[in-house]
Amino acid sequence: MFNLGSLVLWLVVILSCLSFCTGNSVTYDSNAIIINGKRRIIFSGSIHYPRSTDAMWPDLIKKAKDGGLDAIETYIFWDRHEPQRQKYDFSGNLDFIKFFQLIHDAGLYVLMRIGPYVCAEWNYGGFPVWLHNMPGIEFRTDNKVYKNEMQTFTTKIVNMCKQANLFATQGGPIIIAQIENEYGNVMTPYGDAGKTYINWCAQMAESLNIGVPWIMCQQSDAPQPMINTCNGFYCDNFTPNNPKSPKMFTENWVGWFKKWGEKDPHRTAEDVAFSVAKFFQFGGVLNNYYMYHGGTNFGRTSGGPFITTSYDYDAPLDEYGNLNQPKWGHLRQLHASIKLGEKILTSSTRSDRNISSSVTLTTFSNPTTGGRFCFLSNTDASNDATIDLEADGTYFVPAWSVTILDGCNKEVYNTAKVNTQTSVFVKEQNEKENAQLSWTWAREHMRDTLLGTGTFKANQLLEQKGFTVDVSDYLWYMTNVDIDQTSSPRDVTLQVNTKGHVLHAFVNRRHIGSEWANNGQSFVLEKPISLKSGTNTITLLSATVGLKNYDAFYDMVPTGIDGGPVYLIGSGNVTTNLSSNSWSYKVGLNGEMKQFYNPTFSSKVKWRPFEHKSIRRRMAWFKTNFKIPSGVDPVVLDLQGMGKGHAWVNGQSIGRFWPSFIAGNDNCSETCDYRGAYESNKCVGNCGNPSQRWYHIPRSFLSGDTNTLILFEEIGGNPKQISVQTITIQTICGHANEGSTLELSCQGGRIISEIQFASYGNPEGKCGSFKHGLWNVVNTLLLVEKACIGKENCSIDVTGESFEISDATSSLASLAVQALCSKK
Ligand code: GAL
Repeated sequence: MFNLGSLVLWLVVILSCLSFCTGNSVTYDSNAIIINGKRRIIFSGSIHYPRSTDAMWPDLIKKAKDGGLDAIETYIFWDRHEPQRQKYDFSGNLDFIKFFQLIHDAGLYVLMRIGPYVCAEWNYGGFPVWLHNMPGIEFRTDNKVYKNEMQTFTTKIVNMCKQANLFATQGGPIIIAQIENEYGNVMTPYGDAGKTYINWCAQMAESLNIGVPWIMCQQSDAPQPMINTCNGFYCDNFTPNNPKSPKMFTENWVGWFKKWGEKDPHRTAEDVAFSVAKFFQFGGVLNNYYMYHGGTNFGRTSGGPFITTSYDYDAPLDEYGNLNQPKWGHLRQLHASIKLGEKILTSSTRSDRNISSSVTLTTFSNPTTGGRFCFLSNTDASNDATIDLEADGTYFVPAWSVTILDGCNKEVYNTAKVNTQTSVFVKEQNEKENAQLSWTWAREHMRDTLLGTGTFKANQLLEQKGFTVDVSDYLWYMTNVDIDQTSSPRDVTLQVNTKGHVLHAFVNRRHIGSEWANNGQSFVLEKPISLKSGTNTITLLSATVGLKNYDAFYDMVPTGIDGGPVYLIGSGNVTTNLSSNSWSYKVGLNGEMKQFYNPTFSSKVKWRPFEHKSIRRRMAWFKTNFKIPSGVDPVVLDLQGMGKGHAWVNGQSIGRFWPSFIAGNDNCSETCDYRGAYESNKCVGNCGNPSQRWYHIPRSFLSGDTNTLILFEEIGGNPKQISVQTITIQTICGHANEGSTLELSCQGGRIISEIQFASYGNPEGKCGSFKHGLWNVVNTLLLVEKACIGKENCSIDVTGESFEISDATSSLASLAVQALCSKK
């Protein structure tokens, strides 16, 4: 019979089921991450939500999913979420809850690395700078003030996720969370307090009851049940400190980051695939690409010193979200190939047989099902190998590669045999008016600071970030020097010892020099000056360029003139120490305070017509309007010709620029050998060019027909050279071996308009310089044209049959194609 009592009982059952029955349990053992009882290996990729815009997220997530990922990893960026103590911001591209929901909607998991110390080439490693000024605080150690703040923030993030039902146990996407970041790498100098701290981190994290496993990366003594994980270029040799923990590669560095003045990093698709395949060969369970999409350091978020605005990282998705081919596609095929063995890999015993000193056959076999899955690796950096596995076949394993054998007898993938297309992007100028921008300019008003007037005084040279709390890159240091009225002008040398990162010096309102160290560290500015009789004003403008983000006690590394000393050195080396003079201070630029960069306020600014002499003007603001480029291709600002400064589009910061900082001329070469261990200096490019010339303007920053671009230029440049361009796919190439399929695809709605080269036979060379080899099927071009012209994508089976030959030579054949993508 129906009664109220049974109704209540049912309601209780239904309500508890809502949180329990829809949830997924996440456990693990040494062979698998076990999600709802299903034994999984996981491919994941890092996409940091504030390094793109929320408008870009759905496309990035889709491309990650299409690339064969199961999960997306991100840090949580404390400084952005809590810019002032207990004043939080989760709006726009800081809405990580929305980001996680989108990932969930796409059917992917989330790895949430809270940190809240993140490193990440992010300003101050993700710590808000106000934290530095809290009385009694010491970062990342057993310190009450610090631990309290860390716990408050971590708890807040966890609670937000719980409220939005984002943990897997609640039916959400988060399957793993991380506390701290690579503390093990820097722990020793913190002594016993470091050990106490890491134990506290573990307990604090555990007490938050998130229902999914916690990890600590690079923490070989991780307190249980924290799982320690590995970061690096290769992690196949890593073993977790608990034999029951799964072996996880939390950061497989797919390339590297860039600093101002450095070259473009490049890690080949072959080598990344080699690292991943070897990791799974030797028992890996989870691989996360750091980064899958690197993106952009908008605003003043880049770490440092001297991390560039671009955080492209040579990731599978480039800075703008385009497929970085062949990397994206080669890894996609790798994921699919390893997934063929998922059941066996996660439930079998492994045996390794060394066939030679560099060739190893690893067999996973499941005694119950009899299933087998093999990896055959050749770690020799120069010698290829041909391996006879008797009944299981004979395999050609190029140097520095891993072959994946489904059923241990069928090659489904080799890390060095790249069948994916290469895509070449170009910068295009589609709107004529965006090439010839018309400029106005305004002065940065410096009368106050050049006359020595600040807002604060001290008889010492202060540390910069502590004083500015990093609300601006800029801090003015000003002092007066009195010279006896009766004496004649005195020629002396001004010597400023600064901790960095950039210094501009003025004496009696005149600029006398600017300087920085190549690595963004301490340097000495030394300039001859002439002091007049009476009062002389020395004005020093110190600028930071991204606060340090890594190392033991990195948070204490000083910035700015901090203690100097500042000397005047006269004839006969007579030295006057000005360090404890009365110094006036002022934080930031007047233009920053008045928001010159914001179109709403900039209408009040006196913008002057641009004349030839506006070129190379330092400490100046420049303004122009431009048209939104047609189409959907990503938009970039070409800042070639400019010095150093900051750029805003419609009031939104697109980051710092410094195109006058030229990358060194050494160590670039046309060829890049994927073989041999990668390190960040290997295969670099862009020698002798601006280390960053193009700056991403996300399309969502643009509106209507007229967009306002405002620049602050610190050291002088030529705005006349600036143009707005799009990043457009132009040439695509593929080179696939007999038995595989060559797939070609244009992006952005473009179609294949021309086949520039096609050869089935034994073609040689690479994209841009293919040539016919000793033999070639004459009508290859016609056949490829038939299959591809006018299409966005096409695919061709690379078999003798497709090319109408039955010759036995075809087993050594390959097909190379170079095509052009154009607008429909
Ligand atoms: C790791 C760190 C990451 C990132 C990476 C280099 O040490 O955990 O956050 O900084 O290095 O890109």
